[in-house]
Amino acid sequence: MTDFQSWALHIQQRMEDVLDTVLPAANIAPDRLHEAMRYAVLGGGKRVRALLAHAAGALCGADAAKVDIAAAAVELIHAYSLVHDDMPCMDDDDLRRGKPSCHKRYDDATALLVGDALQTLAFQSLATPGLCTDAHRQLEMLNLLAIASGSRGMAGGQAIDLASVGKPLDQSELEYMHIHKTGALIRAAALLGAHCAPQLDPQKLQAIDHYAQSIGLAFQVVDDILDAEADSETLGKTAGKDAQSDKPTYVTILGIERAKQLAQELLENALTPLAEYGDAATPLRQLATFITQRSF
Ligand code: IPE
Ligand code: IPE
Ligand code: MG
Ligand code: MG
Ligand code: MG
Repeated sequence: MTDFQSWALHIQQRMEDVLDTVLPAANIAPDRLHEAMRYAVLGGGKRVRALLAHAAGALCGADAAKVDIAAAAVELIHAYSLVHDDMPCMDDDDLRRGKPSCHKRYDDATALLVGDALQTLAFQSLATPGLCTDAHRQLEMLNLLAIASGSRGMAGGQAIDLASVGKPLDQSELEYMHIHKTGALIRAAALLGAHCAPQLDPQKLQAIDHYAQSIGLAFQVVDDILDAEADSETLGKTAGKDAQSDKPTYVTILGIERAKQLAQELLENALTPLAEYGDAATPLRQLATFITQRSF
């Protein structure tokens, strides 16, 4: 196992524990809703957003126990977005993280409520008293996650995605959509990790922000490529769904080869602002390489 793999595994395992603690137990009423929330969050996913929060937190000298809380908040928003994304009124996907998607395992109304409840749980976590000694900073973090998740972030991007079915978007329109539906939350993950540090260095924060914006877009470019190239078993979700649903993607607009080239360029753009930060930025660099070269 490489150093990166063992670092990632360590974070993934501790995030599982943190999320397990944050989520209400399945035997607490309403038990079916709580069971479904746990089903949607636990035991799957690459936890890329949590890894980003921890890698950015490490660069800034943040206490990992604080980053855990911020990372959990982002993973909860992300899990909610996947539950809703899979519903029949959106992408209508039956498979998620190698299991029946939440509305298939439970029902549509439960999946809707799972998303609602995971979203508020995310903000409840981030509002944990004392997460930051500086209460003003903690309010900034709540504001940051709210903007990244809402109509000017992920939810807005999802609206554009649904409105774009069957439409030949140009590259800048597609970029706009991807930056919102996926990039915004990835950017928030890295920034929130950094905000957990005792001191905020504005220059470092800006470097992390530039990194996260590039890698956030790269993430969805690669998601589009994998949808076209990988199989459902490897992905744990239905492959070929974008073409089947007539979605504009980087693959339909640029073709596979140019989409791969773009992912590589975005990787290089992400690494540039980290150049001056030496070993402390190694997790962020390795994570960027993982995001662009992953096979699932
Ligand atoms: C899938 O995200 C949805 C997108 C935003 C492209 P991930 O590929 O991070 O999904 P998990 O969390 O690993 O299942
Ligand atoms: C979803 O994008 C982005 C979200 C905000 C959930 P996709 O629809 O491409 O995600 P997958 O491929 O179903 O995971
Ligand atoms: Mg979608
Ligand atoms: Mg989808
Ligand atoms: Mg996809």
